[in-house]
Parts: sequence; structure tokens; C-alpha cells
Amino acid sequence: MAAHKLLLLPGDGIGPEVMAEVKKLIAFFNDKGLARFETEEALVGGCCYDAHKVAITDETMARARAADAILFGAVGGPKWDSVPYDVRPEAGLLRLRKDLALYANLRPAVTYPALADASSLKRELVEGLDIMILRELTGGVYFGEPKTITDLGNGQKRAIDTQVYDTYEIERISRVAFELARKRRNKVTSMEKRNVMKSGVLWNEVVTQVHAREFKDVQLEHMLADAGGMQLVRNPKQFDVIVTDNLFGDMLSDVAAMLTGSLGMLASASLGEVNPKTKKRQALYEPVHGSAPDIAGKGLANPIAMIASFGMALRYSFNMGKEADMLEAAIAAALDKGLRTADIAPKGTKSIGTAEMGQAIIDEMETLAAAA
Ligand code: IPM
Ligand code: MG
Repeated sequence: MAAHKLLLLPGDGIGPEVMAEVKKLIAFFNDKGLARFETEEALVGGCCYDAHKVAITDETMARARAADAILFGAVGGPKWDSVPYDVRPEAGLLRLRKDLALYANLRPAVTYPALADASSLKRELVEGLDIMILRELTGGVYFGEPKTITDLGNGQKRAIDTQVYDTYEIERISRVAFELARKRRNKVTSMEKRNVMKSGVLWNEVVTQVHAREFKDVQLEHMLADAGGMQLVRNPKQFDVIVTDNLFGDMLSDVAAMLTGSLGMLASASLGEVNPKTKKRQALYEPVHGSAPDIAGKGLANPIAMIASFGMALRYSFNMGKEADMLEAAIAAALDKGLRTADIAPKGTKSIGTAEMGQAIIDEMETLAAAA
């Protein structure tokens, strides 16, 4: 069995706690002979700044390039609020995304049956929800130049961020969207703000062209991103794949996460182009939630988003769809038993901690693996 090289970057806050549960799962896969994972671990974010005065080191970047997949926890926290902008914790994550060209960010929002009541929306609106937010991850206003704050000398300052997209960036993310849709319910909704932004005009035009040229069999619809946000909370089940830019995708995926009950549930995959020589693609898997400094170190965090991110690694990096399905079934089974971390427990009911949830999911895996 070929060994898969994983680079673990737990990061800050609850990152190490939720990553600890994935480490147990990795050990489970190795012990059961389901796969052979080799792991390395490195610092990223605030903890890396404390040790090396940068958010990620060049050495870690080299290891990231060499890994078959990267598992990322979370970065940031109030402790680093005043560190220089270029080395703030988030800069480590942004460098990984940009330097490894991880342009396609898949953020599935799936409501587990047992959690339909944990959503802030009515059960009938979210029950059975299964949508895929596809966020462009290496372009747009996050990375566009100029990006400056200038002193105007009259007591005023001017801040500039630049929203910029080239045709090729929109083409490649559209292709991912249409290909994903073909394996799902065959519908893509593209969201931009063409009514006020030139980048929105081009986005709309290019998505339309790629569709007409290569994906006529897929249903395509366009929506202004603000209306899209409204529709996401009004009638989320109308969507299958939503494709949108970096900034809108950041916001809309947080909205979608809450449909599923908690930000602690949402996994993500960030994928690059397939290397024609090695046939492999660079990939990073991370929960959509952040470092949650308020609960860090208390063993309270929900590890499901991190564990489900590992599940996405099985599916998208290692072609282990069966095992990924098994892991999703194990998560659903643990939830079906009524087990809840604090973020998804109804008010006044008992909740369990990070390690107990992790163990419960491994126990379910044991059962499922034995039956398989
Ligand atoms: C996310 C996060 C990041 C982002 C932060 C941590 C830089 O919010 O992955 O959604 O804005 O992209
Ligand atoms: Mg975000």
C-alpha cells in the first residue's frame, strides 16, 4: 500500500484540540490497515509568529509543497492583534493558499438529519440540505494590488483594496463548479455584483461562455450576490452548487454554515490544479470555523468540521470515497445517538467535550468497519 504523506498544521486556539481528534482517526486508519498515512507536523499562525516571527516559515512551505495533503486547524487570536500586518496569523494561511495555487475552495453545507433543529432556521427549510459553495480562493480583493493605507496629510487616510479577476481565473473555477454539479444535481448558481462591479460583469460573462462552450448539459443560473445571501436563508434547498469570488464566498459560506446548525460542522477542501506529471494536486483541508479563542484549551470545541475535512481529504486527495462515506456515516451515527458538543446542544441539555465526540466517531467507525 502506497504511503500518503500528510502535513498537519494545527495552528492556534482550538486548532490543536480538534486536530488531536483527527490524529486519533489517522491512527485508526493505519491500525486497521485501511490506509498508510505518514504524518509530519509544523507551526502556522500565531504560534509560529511566537517561535519564528513569521506566520509560516519557508521550511514549512517546502514541506507543504512536498505533502500529498495538508490538514490545517485554525489560526489567530487576540494575543496577536497588534503584530505587524504582514506577519499576522492569517498571513500564514493566505500564503499557503496563494503559493500553492489552491484556487478552488469547496465548502459543502450539509444538514445532518439529527441536527435539523440546531439550525436557526425552521426544520423544514434545512432538513436534507446539501449544497456546495465553491469559493474562488487565490484572487479577488484578498490579493489584488494596490492594497494600501496612505496618509493624505490632512488628518485623513485612504485605504485601498483592489478587486481584480482575469479571465483564466474565472474560467478554471467555473469548470470546477460545472464538473462538481455533474456529479450532484446538475445545477450551478453563479453569484457576483455585476450591477456595480466590473469584476462582476466579467465574472458573469466568462461563466456564461464556459457554460455555453463546455457544459451545456448543466443548468446555469446567475444571481446577484446580495440577493443570493437572501435566498440562502429564505430557501436554501433551491441551490446545488454556488460558485462565487473570494470575498463573497467567505461571507456566503459562513451564512451557509449556520444553516447546518453550527460553524463547528462545516468542512472545506482547497484544491489546486492537477500536476500533469505526478497526476497529483496540491490540497489543503480545513474547517471553516476559526480558532475560537474564547473556548480554546477547554476541551469544548466541536471536532466534527475538522474530522469531516479529513473526510474530504480521503475523497479528493486519496480516492478513498468509500472510506469518506463511512466517516460521514460515523459522524451521522454519533449525532443520531444524541451526542452533542456545546455548540450544537439545545439549551439546557447535556453536552460532551471534544475528545468524547472524537472517540464516539471512532467507535462508530469501528462498528462500520467491522460490518463492511
Ligand atoms: C476563512 C477565513 C479566512 C478567510 C481568514 C482566517 C483569513 O475566514 O477561511 O473563511 O477570510 O478566508
Ligand atoms: Mg471565513
